[in-house]
Amino acid sequence: MTGEVDLSVEIAGIRFPNPVWVASGCFNYGREFAHLYPLRELGAVCTKGTAPEPWPGNPGVRMAETPAGMLNAIGLMNPGIDHYLQVDGPWLRAQGVKIVVNIVGRTVEEYVRVAERLTPEVADAVELNISCPNVKEGGLAFGTSPRATYGVTAAVRRATSLPLFVKLSPNVTDITELARAAEAAGADGLTLINTLLGMAIDIRRRRPVLGNVFGGLSGPAIKPIALRMVWQVVGAVRIPVVGIGGIATAQDALEFLMAGARAVQVGTACFANPRAPLEIIAGIRQFMVENGIRRVTELIGAARPAGEAALGNLPPLGDAGADGRLQPLQPGPGSRTGAGEALRQWLKDADRA
Ligand SMILES: Cc1cc2nc3c(=O)[nH]c(=O)nc-3n(C[C@H](O)[C@H](O)[C@H](O)COP(=O)(O)O)c2cc1C
Repeated sequence: MTGEVDLSVEIAGIRFPNPVWVASGCFNYGREFAHLYPLRELGAVCTKGTAPEPWPGNPGVRMAETPAGMLNAIGLMNPGIDHYLQVDGPWLRAQGVKIVVNIVGRTVEEYVRVAERLTPEVADAVELNISCPNVKEGGLAFGTSPRATYGVTAAVRRATSLPLFVKLSPNVTDITELARAAEAAGADGLTLINTLLGMAIDIRRRRPVLGNVFGGLSGPAIKPIALRMVWQVVGAVRIPVVGIGGIATAQDALEFLMAGARAVQVGTACFANPRAPLEIIAGIRQFMVENGIRRVTELIGAARPAGEAALGNLPPLGDAGADGRLQPLQPGPGSRTGAGEALRQWLKDADRA
């Protein structure tokens, strides 16, 4: 097989050139990276969380390194929607890359005020951040209650006709409850996970390292948790899921795709290696060539039990044959109550234990 493989994915009615996006807050609005490579080589850019007015962020120490990642308590510092509409949005549009505008607010009204200002000129989709652990109001408060998730998602849904992704928090007991609430309120897709709440202590000062005491843990340490949550959510909703959390290599990204994510976002890895997203795209392409896979969509959900494709949130896929290559799927009768259902039940039981 030649190197001609199709990396494009369709999600929420948008065709992305490849399934590797950069995650919010780890790429700002893209300018700092544009001298390194054309941004249009990326699947999409998720902007820094953008509020109705400029936010200064949290005081004090905002970052700490951890053995396999980092803690941050930036507090969603951003220049606000006016600046985005006048400066960063038009610039980003000129780069020819798909734009997912991440929005934040302290109240439902604030989220709505940002969403209703976004137009197709400066945004291909909206990503609703209801999961940031570093702001006192809003943020995580919305993302940990199914009722509040439903409320803010429904309000933003009414405020914009752009495709709407809701970004979920891992700091909950059962992430599938939040996923279902967002889906029921009209989300077109889900992105997960945001950072996990953590902290560090400076033993010389005998004080917490971060000015905010707690911060969000990201990077390789959270990948197995993120992967487990993506697996659970894909089995619980019909809308597409985008995987985030500790993705630093093509192997990581492929695991998320095989768990059922239609795309992935690369966050913390961009700080250490700004070219990581491009290396991941190249690695996925190489894997496809080596394994005789023409379309990346064939890999989506490939690790899931046969029969799950009929659920609706996965494209039709093949099953791995004896040679490890994907074979055409034999659609089983009533697959909605087949292996997928059994798996979901099992996961629910496991959660209760
Ligand atoms: C410094 C920093 C800033 C972030 N800012 C945002 C943000 O503004 N909005 C948001 O939804 N997520 C934000 N995140 C979360 C990331 O987008 C991502 O969900 C998380 O870091 C997990 O992915 P990773 O392990 O690849 O970094 C931020 C993460 C970091 C490390």
